[in-house]
Amino acid sequence: MTGPVSMRRDGEIAVIEIDSPPVNALSHPVRAGIAVCMAEALADDSVKGVALTCLGRTFCAGADITEFDKPPMAPMLTEVINTIEASPKPVVAALHGTALGGGFELPLGCHFRVAAPSAAVGLPEVKLGILPGAGGTQRLPRLIGLEAALQRIVTGAQIPAQEALALGAVDEIIEGDLTAGALAFLRSALAENHPLRPTRDRNDKTSNANLAAFDALSTKLTAKSRGLKAPAMCAESVRNAATMPFDDALQRERQIFETLRDGDQSKAQRHIFFAERAAQKIEDMPRGTKGRPITQAAVLGAGAMGGGIAMCFADAGLPVTLIDQSEEAVGAGVDLIRANYQRSATSGRVSEAEMAQRLALITPSTTFADVATADIVIEAVFEDMALKKRLFADLDAACKPGAILATNTSTLDVDAIAAATQRPQDVLGLHFFSPANVMRLLEIVRAQHTTHDVLKTAIDLGRKMGKAPVTVGVCHGFVGNRMLHARGRQVEQLLLEGATPTHLDAALTNFGFPMGPCAMSDLAGLDVSWRVRREAGLTAAVADAICERGWFGQKTSRGYFRYEQGSRRPVADPEVEALISTIAQTQNAAPRAISEREVFERLVFPMINEAADILAEGVAARASDIDVVWVFGYGWPIGTGGPMRYAETLGVKAIFSSLMRYSDQTEDPSLAPGSALTQWATSGEPPSVA
Ligand code: 3HC
Repeated sequence: MTGPVSMRRDGEIAVIEIDSPPVNALSHPVRAGIAVCMAEALADDSVKGVALTCLGRTFCAGADITEFDKPPMAPMLTEVINTIEASPKPVVAALHGTALGGGFELPLGCHFRVAAPSAAVGLPEVKLGILPGAGGTQRLPRLIGLEAALQRIVTGAQIPAQEALALGAVDEIIEGDLTAGALAFLRSALAENHPLRPTRDRNDKTSNANLAAFDALSTKLTAKSRGLKAPAMCAESVRNAATMPFDDALQRERQIFETLRDGDQSKAQRHIFFAERAAQKIEDMPRGTKGRPITQAAVLGAGAMGGGIAMCFADAGLPVTLIDQSEEAVGAGVDLIRANYQRSATSGRVSEAEMAQRLALITPSTTFADVATADIVIEAVFEDMALKKRLFADLDAACKPGAILATNTSTLDVDAIAAATQRPQDVLGLHFFSPANVMRLLEIVRAQHTTHDVLKTAIDLGRKMGKAPVTVGVCHGFVGNRMLHARGRQVEQLLLEGATPTHLDAALTNFGFPMGPCAMSDLAGLDVSWRVRREAGLTAAVADAICERGWFGQKTSRGYFRYEQGSRRPVADPEVEALISTIAQTQNAAPRAISEREVFERLVFPMINEAADILAEGVAARASDIDVVWVFGYGWPIGTGGPMRYAETLGVKAIFSSLMRYSDQTEDPSLAPGSALTQWATSGEPPSVA
């Protein structure tokens, strides 16, 4: 048969092969192909069993997400799965790569599942703002129990093959040839001749479920949903597995799926899914460009940022030398890394063995010359241009030819840093976000002479680290921090006009940000931006005054807020509020009551105004790249799809008018819409480089 699905015979077994690159998504032709092959296999008396396999790098990665906005086309995945489950001939699925979403729901409807040792399964639909809509919320609990399924479905976590075996989601791990192993497994099942047990009929793990414990876990898991609807809906549907007949629960699952799929949150989350992948494409990069091999890395500077970056290398399985000037500095850096890993081990995110393995990949050093063996060096020292230029000249002398020299600067001119070397083609910015081992954004700053293979290496490295890489151009603050500065100007201004840090933060956390601008500055360290301001010859009356008192945020237990010993929870600080009033008085600013909507708009709209300039200048290649930057670097609520998509949803004209009004009211020219936003509001098209 032609098309993405074919069937061949291996004796009495029909082997269905799906071959639909790149990830064998269950598009209409794939579903139709499986249905035709199954019908043939069922009609043929000489077929005793069926094996479902995939060619290429992975078993099915799920429903074809690009079809979600199109009219549904039969056969639906649920029908295909129901046919398989009702088959009187046993069906085994042979899993490799990642069997995700519908790509796991399909095997859940098979009678048996075998997997390669490196395979993983999972139901990550929640990350797309939906729930598993082809029986996953009903069949997975039947195989692994209600609470275990709840935990995996609400978080969307992947389940490695060994764990899936232990839980009961997979029947056997096959070492060596997967298809041969699957056929052997099926033959022995045929020989045993036990009656088939369709998953839908297996109620032993759901009928006696402890619903009180389930509800408690559900409350805990959905507590941090930040306004997203999908997690709670996932939990509701999983619960139905214990309380409703299978077919009714399946129907309810479908209803919820369709409601969520058609809602704005899921559309926004799907936008981010594709935006993340689009951001990894560089338009002028010749096809087939290869990255340079990276087998050894070095990080300069063992502070919180340098240590976090070293952890990213270790997490990706790459050896890294962490270099600082003194034993004391490097020792403190390693202690912090160990404490971070310990926290992950205690919470179960990594095992003790993994923690030990990762720590062993990090070699502390006080010898600068150790950079000589590195394929890539990332500098993470203070934000000081003179220092960075000196360091890059030294790196140029000490590093091997072809080594990539990267700066983790968050604002400075990467071209100027590259010019301090004789190899500007090998220099770029790799801007990690704090905490570097947690935040997914990686801004790759393309300098004037950075070559394509260096950029490709950086993108590949970012992916290996599990990051969301976005390539940006050189300018003060690149994409993320440049927009943050636009917000920062309003933080200052609003505080002087009478808002408190608590009010400011509430306006953004109520929108869905995990923290507001003041708590975020306290977390990052107020001294960092203070140094940046001084470097750029800028001042910020309130922030400078707080820093002058030695209050740098969480690290000194005081900043915009106070922090109790050992706590990261911001507490309003009357002394800071009084300090702000005093500064306002000296500037003759009369305090007034400011509505939450005004605070929100004055924090967010100037960022969109700045983003329009960023696009018009070509610092970001696409509007959706800016969405990726803000969702993965700054916790922009993913359910709105990032600032650019949010702007489109709200209407750019409305944003333009609000900014006009605020700039008139406050006589603050930084609030006035720029030419790029004006053009966007007029033409309806986001700006792009002329
Ligand atoms: N549908 C459509 N396209 C998909 C897709 C899917 N489910 N999964 C991946 N793709 C596309 C990507 O957009 C990308 O396209 P591009 O090359 O044009 O940019 C290409 O496949 C390769 O994807 P990646 O770059 O992500 O490849 P990786 O090897 O890094 O990762 C993966 C592979 C882990 C499978 C990852 O692609 C992934 O997580 N995919 C999504 C998995 C998922 O969310 N599945 C659930 C779908 S919803 C569902 O099943 C509903 C059901 O319950 C009814």
